[in-house]
Amino acid sequence: MNFTQAIVRRPGKSIVAGISLAGGKLPRYDKALEQHRCYVEALTTCGVKIRELDALEEYPDSTFVEDVAVLTPGCAIITNPGAVSRKAEVTSMQQILMNIFSALETIDSPGTLDGGDILQVGSHFFIGQSKRTNNDAAQQLITILEKYGMSGSTVTVNDFLHLKTGVTAINATTLVAGGEFIDHPAFQNFDIIPVSRDEIGAANCIVCNGRIIMPAGFPETRDKLKPYATDIIKVDISEFAKIDGGLTCLSLRF
Ligand code: GLY
Repeated sequence: MNFTQAIVRRPGKSIVAGISLAGGKLPRYDKALEQHRCYVEALTTCGVKIRELDALEEYPDSTFVEDVAVLTPGCAIITNPGAVSRKAEVTSMQQILMNIFSALETIDSPGTLDGGDILQVGSHFFIGQSKRTNNDAAQQLITILEKYGMSGSTVTVNDFLHLKTGVTAINATTLVAGGEFIDHPAFQNFDIIPVSRDEIGAANCIVCNGRIIMPAGFPETRDKLKPYATDIIKVDISEFAKIDGGLTCLSLRF
């Protein structure tokens, strides 16, 4: 996947109040900031120009910019996030994307959709139907995609927060997947690089201009991914993982 630009948002001090399914330890702000800096550095190493937005303290999860928009070659789609506390995050992203994309579309209520549920493989978009993304939004998205010559289909997500928490694309024919997505019928035509239960966090990777960015701490998966990239860049995102955040959630790439 080739990208020239990415949008990221610095975490705010309020990150400690981010939504967490797991509960457990709170993220440490200073450490999250440093990990975010390393994440931006990794994208820069891949040749991507970064637009770094200021923290939005009133929205604890707003560093996860991927959830508020879906970027396609034809248009940018502003989502309607499934978590009530995240809905207003779209306002500032809409302002930013208006100045970059000539066509802007929206997902409207009663549809709810998080960008973390959208897995693009070529011109096809798999849409996770999760606790955040409902069928109404999925149908809205499919209609928008078809208007621009692309396609979409739905995949039920049972065991992960988002579709891309459990499966991401390595290339047009290969996915890295964990748990319910290793043998999922929706992905039966793909080669699957399976991620073990112990390394489940490694199912969320970014392929960018020939390199793979993956979360640190998953040596078994790193070895499996080596043949697919010129270089593998590991980034520690432990503070974001405490509030269910993955690598892809932290940027919008285009
Ligand atoms: N904490 C990230 C999310 O729940 O969307």
